[in-house]
Amino acid sequence: PLVPTSDLLASAAADRRGLPAFNVITLEHAEAIAAGAEAVGTPVVLQLSQNAVAYRGGRLLPIARACAEIAAAARVPVSLHLDHVEDFDLLRAAPAAGFSSAMFDASALPHDENVKATAEAAAWAHRHGLHLEAELGRVGGKDGEPPLSAHAPGARTDPAEAARYVADTAVDALAVAVGSSHAMTSRTADLDLALIGELAAAVPVPLVLHGSSGVPDGQLAAAVAAGMVKINIGTALNLAYTPAVREHLTARPDTTDPRPYLTAARDAMTRTVEHLARVVAAAR
Ligand code: G3H
Ligand code: ZN
Repeated sequence: PLVPTSDLLASAAADRRGLPAFNVITLEHAEAIAAGAEAVGTPVVLQLSQNAVAYRGGRLLPIARACAEIAAAARVPVSLHLDHVEDFDLLRAAPAAGFSSAMFDASALPHDENVKATAEAAAWAHRHGLHLEAELGRVGGKDGEPPLSAHAPGARTDPAEAARYVADTAVDALAVAVGSSHAMTSRTADLDLALIGELAAAVPVPLVLHGSSGVPDGQLAAAVAAGMVKINIGTALNLAYTPAVREHLTARPDTTDPRPYLTAARDAMTRTVEHLARVVAAAR
């Protein structure tokens, strides 16, 4: 069934489990995410990034409606999340399109403007029943340093700054910089597990790990044990999809019908979802 993200975050935190959130690009991604989560019997978040909406010419509804149908039909609880939203107009379209949560990404703005824009986004979201996630990298200003995005190499979120940011913006979940970075194709990230523990103690809302594809299994489990709740995974699915298509087309270069290679891609993604959902959603 389609359920609100806030319910999934609350029960994951209460059960001391991680909540896997996978990025959807194609319909096959959404189908694989639901199938993998069903195989493991864990709740899951289907998330669509602003970039994935841009890929569809900025049209949100066709893919959002497909995701909502897949969520509604799933045998496990599934929520819809709009990811990395920078465009306020896209945020405004989220509730009517079936999303119960969104990540508002003002990380490119100077810190004061980030706080102001995020607080406005959170106030709007709360008036419209939307749960709002934001991210905080390293706040600039010390020794004239510029702010650092949560995914810049070496960025680390300071626990006291994170607590102040959540108080100033009233966001419902916080993505933090703890050693992961987006779009890694090898699982070589080295998370700062002690910092995750300090952030979990300092910040009163669920913590979110972005760029989780680059994090090895053991560290994903340890991150959840240290207090990370929502685990965002995108690239890992594409590392299953694309080689499956390539392998199929290399072995059968005269292929015309896309269904056999899309089936291979979907099956490969389903196996990845199953594996990562087991790692992330296992009890601490
Ligand atoms: O918001 C999405 C995630 O941060 C995905 O990152 O593609 O590096 O796994 P990833
Ligand atoms: Zn992300």
